[in-house]
Amino acid sequence: MKLIIKSIAFIALLHIVSCGKKEEPAPSLSAPLALNPSGITQNSFLAKWVRVSNAESYLLDVSANRDFSSFVDGYQSLAVNGVDHEVMDLEANTAYHYRLRAKSSSAESSNSNVVSLTTLIPEGIPLKDAAKNFYIGNIVQSNRLTGKHQEILGSEFSSISAEYEMKMNIMYPNEGAYNWTAADAIVNFAHDNGLNMHGHALIWHNATPDWVENYAGTDAEFEAMIEDYIKTVVDRYKDKVSSWDVVNEAILDGSGDYRNSVFYQRMGKDYITKCFQWAREADPDVVLFYNDYSICSDATKQSAIFTMIDELQNNSVPIDGLGYQLHISYNYPSRDDIVSAVNKSVDRNLKVHFSELDIRANPNNDLSSLTQSRSLAQKDKFKELAEIYSALPDDNKYALTLWGLKDDESWLLDFHGHIDWPLLYDASFNEKDAYYGFLEGLMKN
Ligand code: G3I
Repeated sequence: MKLIIKSIAFIALLHIVSCGKKEEPAPSLSAPLALNPSGITQNSFLAKWVRVSNAESYLLDVSANRDFSSFVDGYQSLAVNGVDHEVMDLEANTAYHYRLRAKSSSAESSNSNVVSLTTLIPEGIPLKDAAKNFYIGNIVQSNRLTGKHQEILGSEFSSISAEYEMKMNIMYPNEGAYNWTAADAIVNFAHDNGLNMHGHALIWHNATPDWVENYAGTDAEFEAMIEDYIKTVVDRYKDKVSSWDVVNEAILDGSGDYRNSVFYQRMGKDYITKCFQWAREADPDVVLFYNDYSICSDATKQSAIFTMIDELQNNSVPIDGLGYQLHISYNYPSRDDIVSAVNKSVDRNLKVHFSELDIRANPNNDLSSLTQSRSLAQKDKFKELAEIYSALPDDNKYALTLWGLKDDESWLLDFHGHIDWPLLYDASFNEKDAYYGFLEGLMKN
């Protein structure tokens, strides 16, 4: 009997001790602090974080989606130790996100903050190969078709436009007397170097020879002369020039009225219709553009241009596309305004040509040299423009053309009287930050 009582007492004692002894709670684990990665390459990065006390290991998540709706193979709750881990076998020029949790034998923390990064673009990818389903263009002059110009145009670009030598004042300087020398040299250069040739520009008030401005004949004779000019030029370069800016800058800034050019004065506003029809009659396959500037920044002009285009399309005039010159600045116009303006062409099934892109880094002339911060801001803008163009539907793509190769050759120098560093290469043909931003943007989609 005594033994039973003793046993009961002993069990009771054990129970009291066990109940009385406070269970040590599992040490709580705070969420780790994920740090910016280091050593980012085309295919890897070093994920980093701050050690969590009482953690025995960590669980690492890596995803290409900010919401972690999917995971990179092998990187879902991957058990890792220490305070960093090399994440590998990634895609180049791709955004990734990582987070992690602390773990012990009896606890797991909540998720850390999310850190995002983009892997580097593959080295040595030329611009033209980074572009998906569209040309990367630049401008040429007949006295710049050799040496470094030829090397870069041939390796990085897939299309060219004549900066000024395929305009009327150069090709048709005197009535009845064409001068094909420079235009032929440029068209032959395109052919010999496997480059697409964009024709710029058949009709432009700023490149009209004096004899046309002061044409002595009747309006009917004027119209016949313009028809003959357009058909002569388009026919000469048929199968060599794949597209033409048929009419350039016919709509006025601000008012959106038709520009009172000699063409408007002598032929009326139907001159635009007739020029497109004549170009089509001369070449059934050539892609025909209307080209203008400030389309993304001047709402009145933009509205007038699309009203004109709607009229042309409603009358079955053979207009294939719209050229957005895009002589812009590092901080203007906004991405939204550019996308909104471009979508108006997509809605009309038009080809979109970013036809004369340069991005002023010094629009207010507040810099005497290109600072790193302004260079990086310009890089971001070039990346933005390349992303916008790359995201177009394939049916609406044609070309993204830069208006100059290197900064010191830009027309802007004369036009604004100060350096704007507006292009992808510096005066010594070195690739700028802008070049890499542009390339990243092309690779994005
Ligand atoms: O190269 C000759 C040189 O040998 C000669 O001594 C000198 C003086 O006559 O002229 C030089 O050619 C000039 C050429 O630029 C190269 O600098 C032409 O006269 C001049 O008219 C030409 O200006 C061009 C302008 O259009 C007019 O055609 C610019 O380079 C060119 O960037 C500019 O481009 C226009 C687009 O076609 C339409 N959108 C706007 C854009 C900027 O204005």
